[in-house]
Parts: sequence; structure tokens; C-alpha cells
Amino acid sequence: MTNHAQSLETGITAIDLEHKRLVGLANLIINSDKKQRERMHTDNFIAMLLSAVKQHIGHEEELMIRIGYRKADDHITAHSVLLDDLLKSFNGYLGGTNTADDVLNNFCFVMFLHWRTHDDELGRHIVTIREKRRKSPGLVHPARIETGPRKPH
Ligand SMILES: [Fe+2]
Ligand SMILES: [Fe+2]
Repeated sequence: MTNHAQSLETGITAIDLEHKRLVGLANLIINSDKKQRERMHTDNFIAMLLSAVKQHIGHEEELMIRIGYRKADDHITAHSVLLDDLLKSFNGYLGGTNTADDVLNNFCFVMFLHWRTHDDELGRHIVTIREKRRKSPGLVHPARIETGPRKPH
């Protein structure tokens, strides 16, 4: 999973650093589980991971609001559902019904893939940015998400 953070760089330094840190933490969980260390050890890493993911998602939400992303409200609602699922999967792990791999799969989905199912507009934007960056690296600022009037409540 170490390559995840690199291949999914957004170009926003603070966000990319958080992604790397979170992937590093997830790798610690995989390794501690594989090496059959004391369960407590993995539990601690997962608890740290969960709170770090929450904090990180909060930063992304602030960013969406700051740049005036028009679907921010919907995306933020989706985040709260995703974080609930991650918490459930974490509790399942603590209760013995989920494996550490289940938690990590959920983590990857919440961290890197949820726009595919929860926000196709942002998804299209991410795909476009990646293509442009591949063709001319360094020319495109990835934070330039199209803005428009926010959806009325
Ligand atoms: Fe998101
Ligand atoms: Fe992220």
C-alpha cells in the first residue's frame, strides 16, 4: 500500500503529507498484524488511524468549503456516513468479527476511492487532473476545482 500515497498525489502539500502519514500508519497495522504481535498493539494503531482519518477528512472538508466547491454539502454528508462505516468496521475488529484487513480495506475506500461512488463530479475532476498532470507535469494546479453556486438548502 506504500505506493498509494504517491500515485494519488493531489499537489496540495498539506493534503499529500497527511495521505502519506495515514498510509504509513496503515502499513504499521498491516505489519503488526502480520507479525502476530500483541493484539493490543494493532488496536492502538487502528484507534490512531481512525482519529487521524477523521482529522484529515475534516481538513479536506475545510478545503472544499474554502474553494467554494458547489457540491461540498453533499460530499460532507457522504463523509459522515463513510466515517460511521469505518467506526463500525473498527468496532467489528475489536469485537473479533472483522479482521485488520477488513478495517484496512475500508480505510482505503474512505481515503482514496469514495468519490467513485459518492461524488462523480469530483471523480471526473480527479481523473481529468491526473490525465493533465501525466501529460504535462507541473502545469496544472490540482486544487482548481470548478466552482459554482452552492446548492440551495
Ligand atoms: Fe471525500
Ligand atoms: Fe484525503
